[in-house]
Amino acid sequence: MSEIYEKLNGCLKSVRAKTDFVPQVAIVLGSGLGDYANDIKVECEIDYHDIEGFPISTVPGHAGKFIFGYVNDIPVVCMKGRVHYYEGYPISDVVLPTRLMKLLGAKILFLTNASGGLNSSFKAGDFMMLTDHISCFAPNPLIGQNIDELGTRFPDMTHVYDEDLRKIIEEVASKEGIDLKKGVYAQLTGPSFESPAEIRMLRTLGVDAVGMSTVVEAIAANHMGMKICGISCVCNLAAGMTDNPLTHDEVQAAANEAAPKFKKLLTESVSRFSEVL
Ligand code: HPA
Repeated sequence: MSEIYEKLNGCLKSVRAKTDFVPQVAIVLGSGLGDYANDIKVECEIDYHDIEGFPISTVPGHAGKFIFGYVNDIPVVCMKGRVHYYEGYPISDVVLPTRLMKLLGAKILFLTNASGGLNSSFKAGDFMMLTDHISCFAPNPLIGQNIDELGTRFPDMTHVYDEDLRKIIEEVASKEGIDLKKGVYAQLTGPSFESPAEIRMLRTLGVDAVGMSTVVEAIAANHMGMKICGISCVCNLAAGMTDNPLTHDEVQAAANEAAPKFKKLLTESVSRFSEVL
């Protein structure tokens, strides 16, 4: 058994010793969505510290625990806090929580994040649903011996962001009067924000929003056959698009302000995922 798979199974055992809850939907909460738990009928919470070997985030605003419960009638597991590659963890640790949630039973992965917008029609506070991504600026989490128990060596990436889930999210946004943008998200490693020249490069490549998470998780989840969707909160215009320097505080403040609308979109969409489960 590979070391990575062994560690994953150790974490699974550790969680299963605390709860037998079986989630159908896994939700990763990005910046600003930390208090989403208020919208969940909570059954059980597990602090990441209590899972042996589990990677723990060091970023302010990313405190870490799994929340198990119900969004309306849908059983979910919510990640309050995630680790990022820039924190120094191996990429296999960055995607361990995603893999773990699949092993716990989740069939759908709902990824959320904060990003910088490149598309000139975007403004701070907009939401962008991911239609596709660019992964080649971050390490691929599947590099190394393939874990055959999880998935195939060469996974197809044609339909990573599930069409049915996207349709539901679009319908919910339209019903709720939320202006939902769509586009391509690129993950860079961070932790420095991009330079204006890098932003110009990314725009040439067709990128609409850029951030420091999500894509590696989507790759690992796709490898395991999960249905995936993602929404990014565009917290700022990317470097060089305005005169202002970028700060983490500004990103956090924009994410916090957008949170009520973001939560509505999340809750109403997840509630309708029974249609595809
Ligand atoms: N770049 C990368 N990540 C981000 C940004 C950005 O401009 N804003 C929020 N997360």
